Parts: sequence; structure tokens; C-alpha cells
Amino acid sequence: MSAKGKVASVRLDRLLANLGYGSRREIQMLANAGTIVLDGAPLRDADRRIALDPDLSSRLTVSGKTLDPLPGLALMLHKPLGVTCSHKEAGALVYSLLPPRWRRREPPLSTVGRLDKETSGLLLLTDDGALLHRIISPKASVSKRYRVTLDRPLRGDEGAIFSSGTLMLEGEEKPLLPVALEVHGPTSAAVTLTEGRYHQVRRMFAAVGNHVTALHRDRVGALDLPADLEPGQYRVMGEGDVARVFEQG
Ligand code: URA
Repeated sequence: MSAKGKVASVRLDRLLANLGYGSRREIQMLANAGTIVLDGAPLRDADRRIALDPDLSSRLTVSGKTLDPLPGLALMLHKPLGVTCSHKEAGALVYSLLPPRWRRREPPLSTVGRLDKETSGLLLLTDDGALLHRIISPKASVSKRYRVTLDRPLRGDEGAIFSSGTLMLEGEEKPLLPVALEVHGPTSAAVTLTEGRYHQVRRMFAAVGNHVTALHRDRVGALDLPADLEPGQYRVMGEGDVARVFEQG
């Protein structure tokens, strides 16, 4: 939708090329073959403009399958252990958990912040740069909750230290903003924080003489990792899910 409330339109070949269906030439070949169908009728002209109606994905099929979600896509992924939040590092990447075509989308899907390779849990991805920046902006103070398993029993003073707003991580010049600690057992806890410094949770526990052996993010803002979303699975976020990210966790 444009600023004036008019639905934007785009050339069919551009739309499909940007969704990863192939080059413009390949899209014209698909159109020639009658495999691109809108409201039941083949579209044979790949340079025809198509209105980006919100329901377009359900009305347009390519080779008999409904169109992929339009740009403005946001996903929640249950990140498994052992995959990296990067487009180009060696080894298994979170993007390899998505359909191969989605990895050719333009604008590309990017992770909203990062989780370490050995951290599991709720990871958001989006192709909407404005949304991404809105979530990671310090102004938004979006909270993140992590379940932590520790090598050694908690001493008892960690909650006061984390919530003080004075804890300085090694090599840094600014203290951490207050972090809430919920103790669940001698070696298990949850922390809720609004910053996203490098290896923050692991370094916080290292600063109080402990060691994190397992780390899992289960909530961003007021959005919980759905219980039925298995490691490696993802789900398209609806407007309600996006709104929940900005609600108090
Ligand atoms: N803190 C960490 O140490 N690692 C993560 O992946 C996220 C927060």
C-alpha cells in the first residue's frame, strides 16, 4: 500500500525474479508455458504490472503452487544448536533451514540480531529493513529472555549484580543495562535483557565466576517461542506476532 492508500504494482517478471523464481528470461519462459496463473487465468505477458494486493499470494500460482509470501516477510525460527546466523560463514547456516528459493529473495531475509552457534531458540528473520531496525533499536528496548544452564551452582549475589546497572564486561567501557535474573534451580536460571552485546549472557556469567553450559532463548518482547515449533522449523509471523515483539515481555 502506498502512502496515499493505493495498492502498489510491480511487473510480474520483476516480482517473481525478486522472490527467487528465476531470471526475468526464465520467468518469461514460465509465462509462455502458461504456468503462471492469476485468478484461474494464465498470465502470458511477463512485463504486465500486477497489483500487490495482500491476498495476491493465494490468487497467483506458479507451476500449480501458490506464490511465496510477498516482500515484507517476517519469520520466527526455532534455531537448533550448531547452525550459524550468517550469510557466508563455513558450516551449517540458519538460511539453509529455509526453502532454497527463499535464499534467492531480494530484498534478502536477514536475522534480527544473532544467536551464537551453540545457542538455541527463538530467532526472528525479516526482509523488512525498517522492521529489523525498529526491533534492534535501543530506543525500542525489546526484551529477550534466555534460559541458562550453568556449570556451577549460583552463589546468590548474581541477581543483585546483574540488576545493578554497573556490571562491566571485560574489554568494554560502558556498564550493562540492568538484567533481571530468575533463579529456577541451583544451576538453572532465566535472564531477561534489552541489550544484545556480543556473547552477552555467557560473558555475564563468566564475570561472576560461572560458565554457561546451555543457552536457549524462549521469548522476544512478549512473543514466546511456540511450543509446537520444533528445532529447525519456522513459521511466517502474522501482524499479531509482530505487535507482540514490541509489547512488554
Ligand atoms: N548471549 C550469548 O552469550 N549468546 C547468545 O547467543 C545470545 C545472548
